[in-house]
Amino acid sequence: MLRIPIASTASFRRFFQSSSHQRHENPLGLPNRKGPPPQMPRRNAPIEKRNIANVRKVVAVASGKGGVGKSTVAVNLAFALAANKFNSDHTRKPLRVGILDLDIFGPSIPKLMGLEEAEEPRLTHRGAIIPLVNHSIPCMSMGFLIPRDTTSGSNVDKAVIWRGLMVQKAVQQLLFDVDWRGADEAGEGLDVLVLDMPPGTGDVPLTLGQLVKVDGAVIVSTPQDVALADVRKGVTMFKKISVPITGLVLNTSHFMCPSCSTPHYIYGEPTEFRKVAQNLNAQVLGELPLVAGVSSASDRGVPYMLEKGADEGWKNVMNGIAERVYNNLGL
Ligand SMILES: Nc1ncnc2c1ncn2[C@@H]1O[C@H](COP(=O)(O)OP(=O)(O)O)[C@@H](O)[C@H]1O
Ligand SMILES: [Mg+2]
Repeated sequence: MLRIPIASTASFRRFFQSSSHQRHENPLGLPNRKGPPPQMPRRNAPIEKRNIANVRKVVAVASGKGGVGKSTVAVNLAFALAANKFNSDHTRKPLRVGILDLDIFGPSIPKLMGLEEAEEPRLTHRGAIIPLVNHSIPCMSMGFLIPRDTTSGSNVDKAVIWRGLMVQKAVQQLLFDVDWRGADEAGEGLDVLVLDMPPGTGDVPLTLGQLVKVDGAVIVSTPQDVALADVRKGVTMFKKISVPITGLVLNTSHFMCPSCSTPHYIYGEPTEFRKVAQNLNAQVLGELPLVAGVSSASDRGVPYMLEKGADEGWKNVMNGIAERVYNNLGL
Protein backbone atom coordinates (compact mmCIF):
# COMPACT_ATOMS: atom_id res chain seq x y z
CA MET A 1 0.00 0.00 0.00
CA LEU A 2 1.34 3.39 -0.97
CA ARG A 3 1.36 5.99 1.77
CA ILE A 4 2.03 9.69 1.60
CA PRO A 5 4.52 10.93 4.17
CA ILE A 6 2.97 12.08 7.40
CA ALA A 7 3.58 15.70 8.25
CA SER A 8 1.43 16.11 11.29
CA THR A 9 1.10 14.03 14.38
CA ALA A 10 -2.41 15.20 15.19
CA SER A 11 -4.70 12.27 15.78
CA PHE A 12 -7.87 12.71 13.82
CA ARG A 13 -10.35 10.39 15.39
CA ARG A 14 -9.78 11.89 18.83
CA PHE A 15 -11.06 15.21 17.57
CA PHE A 16 -13.93 13.68 15.70
CA GLN A 17 -15.46 12.58 18.99
CA SER A 18 -15.47 16.13 20.32
CA SER A 19 -18.19 17.93 22.28
CA SER A 20 -21.66 18.32 20.82
CA HIS A 21 -21.23 22.11 20.61
CA GLN A 22 -18.04 21.79 18.61
CA ARG A 23 -19.61 19.10 16.45
CA HIS A 24 -22.35 21.47 15.45
CA GLU A 25 -19.97 24.05 14.00
CA ASN A 26 -17.30 21.61 12.96
CA PRO A 27 -18.85 18.17 12.35
CA LEU A 28 -15.60 16.54 11.33
CA GLY A 29 -13.94 17.89 14.47
CA LEU A 30 -10.97 19.41 12.67
CA PRO A 31 -8.64 20.98 15.22
CA ASN A 32 -7.24 24.44 14.54
CA ARG A 33 -9.40 24.99 11.52
CA LYS A 34 -8.91 28.47 10.16
CA GLY A 35 -11.65 30.78 9.00
CA PRO A 36 -15.33 30.97 9.86
CA PRO A 37 -17.38 27.84 10.59
CA PRO A 38 -19.22 26.34 7.64
CA GLN A 39 -22.37 28.24 6.80
CA MET A 40 -25.16 27.04 4.63
CA PRO A 41 -26.48 29.24 1.85
CA ARG A 42 -29.84 30.78 2.74
CA ARG A 43 -32.92 30.01 0.77
CA ASN A 44 -33.31 32.45 -2.14
CA ALA A 45 -29.93 34.06 -1.35
CA PRO A 46 -27.59 34.40 -4.34
CA ILE A 47 -25.48 31.29 -4.71
CA GLU A 48 -21.76 31.76 -4.88
CA LYS A 49 -20.15 28.60 -6.14
CA ARG A 50 -16.50 28.12 -5.20
CA ASN A 51 -13.76 26.02 -6.72
CA ILE A 52 -12.17 23.27 -4.67
CA ALA A 53 -8.59 24.32 -3.96
CA ASN A 54 -5.91 22.53 -6.00
CA VAL A 55 -8.48 20.74 -8.19
CA ARG A 56 -8.90 21.60 -11.89
CA LYS A 57 -12.10 19.69 -12.70
CA VAL A 58 -14.82 18.08 -10.61
CA VAL A 59 -17.04 15.29 -11.89
CA ALA A 60 -19.86 13.79 -9.83
CA VAL A 61 -20.99 10.18 -10.29
CA ALA A 62 -24.61 9.98 -9.20
CA SER A 63 -27.85 8.08 -9.55
CA GLY A 64 -31.42 8.41 -8.40
CA LYS A 65 -31.22 5.11 -6.59
CA GLY A 66 -28.81 2.96 -4.55
CA GLY A 67 -27.11 -0.23 -5.63
CA VAL A 68 -26.87 0.60 -9.33
CA GLY A 69 -23.07 0.70 -9.39
CA LYS A 70 -22.23 4.36 -8.72
CA SER A 71 -19.25 3.63 -6.51
CA THR A 72 -17.99 0.95 -8.90
CA VAL A 73 -18.24 3.38 -11.83
CA ALA A 74 -16.71 6.24 -9.80
CA VAL A 75 -13.65 4.23 -8.75
CA ASN A 76 -13.03 2.65 -12.16
CA LEU A 77 -13.61 5.96 -13.94
CA ALA A 78 -10.97 7.49 -11.67
CA PHE A 79 -8.47 4.76 -12.63
CA ALA A 80 -9.30 4.94 -16.33
CA LEU A 81 -8.84 8.73 -16.28
CA ALA A 82 -5.62 8.44 -14.27
CA ALA A 83 -4.11 5.97 -16.75
CA ASN A 84 -5.21 8.23 -19.61
CA LYS A 85 -4.76 5.42 -22.14
CA PHE A 86 -8.15 5.52 -23.74
CA ASN A 87 -7.19 6.75 -27.15
CA SER A 88 -4.48 5.92 -29.61
CA ASP A 89 -2.28 8.86 -28.60
CA HIS A 90 0.12 7.09 -26.25
CA THR A 91 2.16 10.21 -25.65
CA ARG A 92 -0.44 11.50 -23.23
CA LYS A 93 0.68 11.77 -19.63
CA PRO A 94 -1.22 10.08 -16.78
CA LEU A 95 -3.70 12.39 -15.08
CA ARG A 96 -3.69 13.22 -11.39
CA VAL A 97 -7.02 11.97 -10.15
CA GLY A 98 -8.56 11.81 -6.66
CA ILE A 99 -11.77 10.34 -5.27
CA LEU A 100 -14.02 12.02 -2.73
CA ASP A 101 -16.72 9.80 -1.23
CA LEU A 102 -19.73 11.97 -0.39
CA ASP A 103 -21.89 9.02 0.62
CA ILE A 104 -21.92 10.04 4.29
CA PHE A 105 -24.28 7.30 5.46
CA GLY A 106 -23.03 4.46 3.26
CA PRO A 107 -19.40 5.11 2.35
CA SER A 108 -17.95 2.36 0.19
CA ILE A 109 -14.70 3.94 -1.00
CA PRO A 110 -12.68 2.54 1.97
CA LYS A 111 -13.61 -1.00 0.89
CA LEU A 112 -13.35 -0.48 -2.88
CA MET A 113 -9.95 1.18 -2.50
CA GLY A 114 -8.58 -1.45 -0.11
CA LEU A 115 -8.36 1.09 2.71
CA GLU A 116 -10.78 -0.48 5.18
CA GLU A 117 -8.08 -1.15 7.72
CA ALA A 118 -6.16 2.07 7.08
CA GLU A 119 -5.17 4.41 9.86
CA GLU A 120 -7.09 7.66 10.24
CA PRO A 121 -6.04 10.50 7.97
CA ARG A 122 -3.48 12.98 9.29
CA LEU A 123 -3.67 16.73 9.15
CA THR A 124 -1.44 19.32 7.55
CA HIS A 125 0.06 21.93 9.85
CA ARG A 126 -2.78 24.19 8.69
CA GLY A 127 -5.33 21.67 9.96
CA ALA A 128 -6.54 20.36 6.59
CA ILE A 129 -7.17 16.65 6.08
CA ILE A 130 -4.55 14.71 4.12
CA PRO A 131 -6.20 12.16 1.81
CA LEU A 132 -5.29 8.48 2.12
CA VAL A 133 -3.60 6.94 -0.90
CA ASN A 134 -3.81 3.45 -2.33
CA HIS A 135 -3.04 2.17 -5.84
CA SER A 136 -1.49 5.69 -6.29
CA ILE A 137 -4.88 7.43 -6.07
CA PRO A 138 -5.63 9.77 -3.15
CA CYS A 139 -9.08 9.50 -1.65
CA MET A 140 -11.18 10.81 1.19
CA SER A 141 -14.27 9.31 2.76
CA MET A 142 -16.42 9.71 5.83
CA GLY A 143 -15.57 6.04 6.35
CA PHE A 144 -12.01 7.06 7.29
CA LEU A 145 -13.24 9.38 10.00
CA ILE A 146 -15.88 7.49 11.90
CA PRO A 147 -14.77 5.66 15.00
CA ARG A 148 -13.62 2.12 14.43
CA ASP A 149 -15.72 -0.76 15.60
CA THR A 150 -13.25 -2.26 18.03
CA THR A 151 -14.64 -5.77 17.70
CA SER A 152 -14.15 -6.08 13.93
CA GLY A 153 -11.33 -3.55 13.46
CA SER A 154 -13.15 -2.17 10.41
CA ASN A 155 -13.70 1.56 10.04
CA VAL A 156 -16.95 1.35 8.12
CA ASP A 157 -19.11 -0.40 10.66
CA LYS A 158 -20.15 2.44 12.94
CA ALA A 159 -23.14 4.35 11.69
CA VAL A 160 -23.19 8.11 11.34
CA ILE A 161 -26.41 9.43 12.83
CA TRP A 162 -26.77 13.05 11.87
CA ARG A 163 -29.53 15.45 11.06
CA GLY A 164 -29.64 17.32 7.75
CA LEU A 165 -27.75 20.37 8.97
CA MET A 166 -24.84 18.32 10.26
CA VAL A 167 -24.72 16.43 6.97
CA GLN A 168 -24.58 19.69 5.04
CA LYS A 169 -21.76 21.01 7.20
CA ALA A 170 -19.82 17.75 7.02
CA VAL A 171 -20.14 17.80 3.22
CA GLN A 172 -18.86 21.35 3.23
CA GLN A 173 -15.84 20.33 5.29
CA LEU A 174 -15.11 17.34 3.04
CA LEU A 175 -15.27 19.68 0.05
CA PHE A 176 -13.14 22.49 1.40
CA ASP A 177 -10.99 21.11 4.25
CA VAL A 178 -9.11 18.39 2.36
CA ASP A 179 -5.69 19.27 0.97
CA TRP A 180 -5.35 17.44 -2.35
CA ARG A 181 -1.67 18.39 -2.64
CA GLY A 182 -0.79 15.78 -0.02
CA ALA A 183 1.05 15.93 3.25
CA ASP A 184 3.76 18.45 2.53
CA GLU A 185 1.52 20.76 0.48
CA ALA A 186 4.13 20.42 -2.24
CA GLY A 187 2.14 18.29 -4.67
CA GLU A 188 0.53 19.79 -7.74
CA GLY A 189 -3.03 18.96 -6.78
CA LEU A 190 -5.47 17.15 -9.05
CA ASP A 191 -6.50 17.31 -12.68
CA VAL A 192 -9.80 15.64 -11.81
CA LEU A 193 -11.66 14.97 -8.57
CA VAL A 194 -14.27 12.21 -8.94
CA LEU A 195 -17.13 12.49 -6.46
CA ASP A 196 -18.93 9.31 -5.41
CA MET A 197 -22.40 10.59 -4.59
CA PRO A 198 -24.99 9.07 -2.26
CA PRO A 199 -28.15 7.79 -3.93
CA GLY A 200 -31.05 10.10 -4.59
CA THR A 201 -31.69 13.79 -4.60
CA GLY A 202 -31.26 14.69 -0.92
CA ASP A 203 -29.16 17.11 1.11
CA VAL A 204 -25.75 16.07 -0.21
CA PRO A 205 -26.21 16.81 -3.93
CA LEU A 206 -28.09 19.99 -3.12
CA THR A 207 -25.31 21.18 -0.79
CA LEU A 208 -22.71 20.24 -3.38
CA GLY A 209 -24.54 22.05 -6.17
CA GLN A 210 -24.93 25.18 -4.09
CA LEU A 211 -21.35 25.38 -2.90
CA VAL A 212 -19.09 24.01 -5.59
CA LYS A 213 -18.59 24.52 -9.28
CA VAL A 214 -19.12 20.97 -10.55
CA ASP A 215 -17.97 20.51 -14.14
CA GLY A 216 -20.11 17.51 -14.95
CA ALA A 217 -22.42 14.82 -13.65
CA VAL A 218 -22.31 11.19 -14.75
CA ILE A 219 -25.66 9.54 -14.04
CA VAL A 220 -25.61 5.76 -13.55
CA SER A 221 -28.63 3.56 -14.13
CA THR A 222 -29.55 -0.08 -14.59
CA PRO A 223 -31.94 -1.33 -17.26
CA GLN A 224 -34.85 -1.87 -14.87
CA ASP A 225 -37.67 0.57 -15.41
CA VAL A 226 -37.69 1.93 -11.88
CA ALA A 227 -34.02 2.87 -12.14
CA LEU A 228 -34.67 4.59 -15.44
CA ALA A 229 -37.42 6.67 -13.83
CA ASP A 230 -34.83 7.67 -11.22
CA VAL A 231 -32.45 8.75 -13.99
CA ARG A 232 -34.95 11.40 -15.05
CA LYS A 233 -35.16 12.66 -11.45
CA GLY A 234 -31.38 12.78 -11.13
CA VAL A 235 -30.96 14.66 -14.41
CA THR A 236 -33.68 17.15 -13.43
CA MET A 237 -32.03 17.77 -10.07
CA PHE A 238 -28.58 18.45 -11.52
CA LYS A 239 -30.10 20.78 -14.09
CA LYS A 240 -31.85 22.67 -11.28
CA ILE A 241 -28.58 23.24 -9.45
CA SER A 242 -26.84 24.22 -12.72
CA VAL A 243 -24.53 21.21 -12.97
CA PRO A 244 -24.03 20.16 -16.59
CA ILE A 245 -24.90 16.54 -17.36
CA THR A 246 -21.86 14.84 -18.85
CA GLY A 247 -23.91 11.81 -19.80
CA LEU A 248 -25.50 8.54 -18.74
CA VAL A 249 -23.98 5.15 -18.00
CA LEU A 250 -26.08 2.03 -18.30
CA ASN A 251 -24.59 -0.41 -15.79
CA THR A 252 -25.19 -4.17 -15.89
CA SER A 253 -26.74 -3.54 -19.28
CA HIS A 254 -26.21 -7.16 -20.26
CA PHE A 255 -24.58 -10.32 -18.93
CA MET A 256 -21.36 -11.61 -20.41
CA CYS A 257 -21.12 -15.24 -19.49
CA PRO A 258 -17.54 -16.53 -19.33
CA SER A 259 -18.19 -19.47 -21.66
CA CYS A 260 -19.60 -17.65 -24.69
CA SER A 261 -19.11 -14.23 -26.20
CA THR A 262 -22.78 -13.45 -26.81
CA PRO A 263 -24.24 -10.61 -24.70
CA HIS A 264 -27.36 -11.73 -22.80
CA TYR A 265 -29.85 -8.90 -22.31
CA ILE A 266 -31.46 -10.27 -19.15
CA TYR A 267 -33.63 -7.17 -18.61
CA GLY A 268 -34.29 -6.60 -22.28
CA GLU A 269 -32.41 -4.63 -24.93
CA PRO A 270 -31.19 -1.16 -23.90
CA THR A 271 -33.58 0.54 -26.33
CA GLU A 272 -35.64 2.13 -23.53
CA PHE A 273 -32.48 3.51 -21.90
CA ARG A 274 -31.27 5.01 -25.17
CA LYS A 275 -34.69 6.57 -25.70
CA VAL A 276 -34.61 8.12 -22.21
CA ALA A 277 -31.14 9.51 -22.90
CA GLN A 278 -32.29 10.99 -26.20
CA ASN A 279 -35.39 12.58 -24.62
CA LEU A 280 -33.21 14.09 -21.90
CA ASN A 281 -30.75 15.32 -24.48
CA ALA A 282 -27.97 13.46 -22.66
CA GLN A 283 -25.26 11.41 -24.31
CA VAL A 284 -24.82 7.72 -23.56
CA LEU A 285 -21.29 7.43 -22.17
CA GLY A 286 -21.28 3.63 -22.20
CA GLU A 287 -23.16 0.42 -21.52
CA LEU A 288 -21.23 -1.70 -19.02
CA PRO A 289 -21.88 -5.44 -18.89
CA LEU A 290 -22.43 -7.40 -15.71
CA VAL A 291 -19.20 -9.30 -15.14
CA ALA A 292 -18.78 -11.58 -12.13
CA GLY A 293 -15.19 -10.51 -11.45
CA VAL A 294 -16.18 -6.87 -10.83
CA SER A 295 -17.73 -7.69 -7.48
CA SER A 296 -15.05 -10.07 -6.32
CA ALA A 297 -12.26 -7.62 -7.21
CA SER A 298 -14.12 -4.84 -5.33
CA ASP A 299 -14.44 -7.07 -2.29
CA ARG A 300 -10.66 -7.49 -2.29
CA GLY A 301 -10.15 -3.72 -2.57
CA VAL A 302 -8.88 -3.92 -6.14
CA PRO A 303 -10.54 -1.67 -8.73
CA TYR A 304 -11.51 -3.85 -11.70
CA MET A 305 -9.49 -1.66 -14.09
CA LEU A 306 -6.36 -2.85 -12.22
CA GLU A 307 -7.42 -6.49 -12.00
CA LYS A 308 -5.15 -8.97 -13.78
CA GLY A 309 -7.04 -11.01 -16.38
CA ALA A 310 -10.05 -8.66 -16.23
CA ASP A 311 -12.67 -8.85 -18.96
CA GLU A 312 -11.27 -6.77 -21.84
CA GLY A 313 -14.76 -5.87 -23.07
CA TRP A 314 -15.66 -4.32 -19.71
CA LYS A 315 -12.38 -2.38 -19.58
CA ASN A 316 -12.90 -1.12 -23.13
CA VAL A 317 -16.36 0.22 -22.27
CA MET A 318 -14.94 1.87 -19.12
CA ASN A 319 -12.14 3.47 -21.16
CA GLY A 320 -14.75 4.72 -23.63
CA ILE A 321 -16.68 6.30 -20.75
CA ALA A 322 -13.47 7.91 -19.45
CA GLU A 323 -12.64 9.25 -22.91
CA ARG A 324 -16.06 10.90 -23.26
CA VAL A 325 -15.79 12.35 -19.75
CA TYR A 326 -12.29 13.61 -20.54
CA ASN A 327 -13.44 15.29 -23.76
CA ASN A 328 -16.50 16.75 -22.08
CA LEU A 329 -14.46 18.27 -19.25
CA GLY A 330 -12.12 19.90 -21.74
CA LEU A 331 -9.01 18.63 -19.96
N1 LIG B 1 -20.89 -4.03 -14.01
C1 LIG B 1 -20.94 -4.77 -12.89
N2 LIG B 1 -20.76 -6.11 -12.97
C2 LIG B 1 -20.83 -6.87 -11.85
N3 LIG B 1 -21.09 -6.39 -10.61
C3 LIG B 1 -21.27 -5.05 -10.49
C4 LIG B 1 -21.20 -4.18 -11.61
N4 LIG B 1 -21.42 -2.91 -11.18
C5 LIG B 1 -21.61 -3.00 -9.84
N5 LIG B 1 -21.53 -4.27 -9.42
C6 LIG B 1 -21.70 -4.76 -8.04
O1 LIG B 1 -22.98 -4.31 -7.59
C7 LIG B 1 -22.94 -3.95 -6.22
C8 LIG B 1 -23.41 -2.50 -6.04
O2 LIG B 1 -22.49 -1.63 -6.65
P1 LIG B 1 -22.07 -0.23 -6.01
O3 LIG B 1 -21.05 0.35 -6.91
O4 LIG B 1 -21.72 -0.37 -4.56
O5 LIG B 1 -23.47 0.56 -6.14
P2 LIG B 1 -23.94 1.99 -5.54
O6 LIG B 1 -22.71 2.78 -5.26
O7 LIG B 1 -24.79 2.58 -6.62
O8 LIG B 1 -24.73 1.68 -4.31
C9 LIG B 1 -21.51 -4.19 -5.77
O9 LIG B 1 -21.42 -5.43 -5.16
C10 LIG B 1 -20.72 -4.16 -7.07
O10 LIG B 1 -19.53 -4.93 -7.00
MG1 LIG C 1 -22.10 3.71 -3.45
